[in-house]
Amino acid sequence: RFYSVIPAGGIGSRLWPLSRANAPKFLHDLTGSGKTLLRGTWDRLGPISGEQRIMVVTGRAHRAAVEEQLPELADHNVVLESEPKDSTAAIGLAAAILEHREPGVIIGSFAADHVISDTRGFRRAVVAAVEAADAGYIATIGITPTEPAIGFGYIHCGASLGLEAAPSAVAVDSFVEKPSLAVAKRYLADGNYLWNGGMFISRADVLLEELGRNEPELLEGLLELAEAWDTERRGATVDRVWPRLKKIAIDYTVAEPAAQAGRLAVIPGDFDWDDVGDFAAIGKLHSGGRKKNLAILGDDPRVLSDASTGVVVSHSGRLITLIGVEDIVVVDTPDALLITTTQNAQRVKSVVDALKLSG
Ligand code: GDD
Ligand code: MG
Repeated sequence: RFYSVIPAGGIGSRLWPLSRANAPKFLHDLTGSGKTLLRGTWDRLGPISGEQRIMVVTGRAHRAAVEEQLPELADHNVVLESEPKDSTAAIGLAAAILEHREPGVIIGSFAADHVISDTRGFRRAVVAAVEAADAGYIATIGITPTEPAIGFGYIHCGASLGLEAAPSAVAVDSFVEKPSLAVAKRYLADGNYLWNGGMFISRADVLLEELGRNEPELLEGLLELAEAWDTERRGATVDRVWPRLKKIAIDYTVAEPAAQAGRLAVIPGDFDWDDVGDFAAIGKLHSGGRKKNLAILGDDPRVLSDASTGVVVSHSGRLITLIGVEDIVVVDTPDALLITTTQNAQRVKSVVDALKLSG
């Protein structure tokens, strides 16, 4: 009765120029393991839901790459978007299609671009979350925060739900998506907050009902799409409905209001978790990699280094030489070169935003 959903569509602009609109973060191997993030997500979920029960929602432009990386992905489990409408539309459409096909189904949505190596710990948390979902909750998986990051949702943990089948499940008193730095610092000091791990597990109908309370028009559009999805009316319905869908993240449309209504639960995760948000995170993942002090990514890059530390990504085939530079980030792609430091890695996003504005 459980289905996994992988929304794969974010751009990952902090990883520019490696992550691009036409080759976003989830299509890359950022760990040096030989597996892309999407493939890693698939391999983690396969043993939990079964490969026949994993749905991937992605942009039309990524179809070929996704199918190449996931040859096991069944055709009826690929949902293609004509343009990105953020995570509410992506996850909501998957929920609506699956509920239409199999009423009462429990779904779990899992970000396509995270790194988790403790698959057993991950599985334990998902199993507990499914129990909470069975009891009618929308369950999230919480991650112990290590810094006042502003790119995450913060979960204020409440009392135990007292579920026999999932003793670790606790109520969520409030959910705050991407707080300011000052607020994030307060939450970290408080000690009763977890990061939202970007996973939502619930009955599909419960998720849709919560969405409908907050965004009735968006829900109506998604239900219309789902109803036509497995028919010859799909194309025409997508052309008519998709462009009008509101573009908004599920953290605002479902998680925040569900917490307020007492319908959100959290399972504290006891596994390692990394959203590989910027090049500094890649550096940390690689400490102990091929070359001492250097994280090197790319297809057989030629990198010569002397007394240097940092992150080097090369997709250009050019020889890269580093001499006496510390904590540097060099990303060499055929049409763009980025040079910064690991300390400034977060600022890549603002540069990319500025680039977009200037066309
Ligand atoms: N198909 C599709 N279409 N997928 C999308 C779209 C879209 O338009 N937009 C985002 N996604 C996917 C991303 O690929 C990712 O798998 C997931 O939805 C989350 O989107 P992000 O854009 O990565 O969200 P975020 O990182 O800013 O924030 C979310 O994740 C954090 C953890 O990494 C939130 O859920 C936060 O609360 C959470 O802490
Ligand atoms: Mg993300």
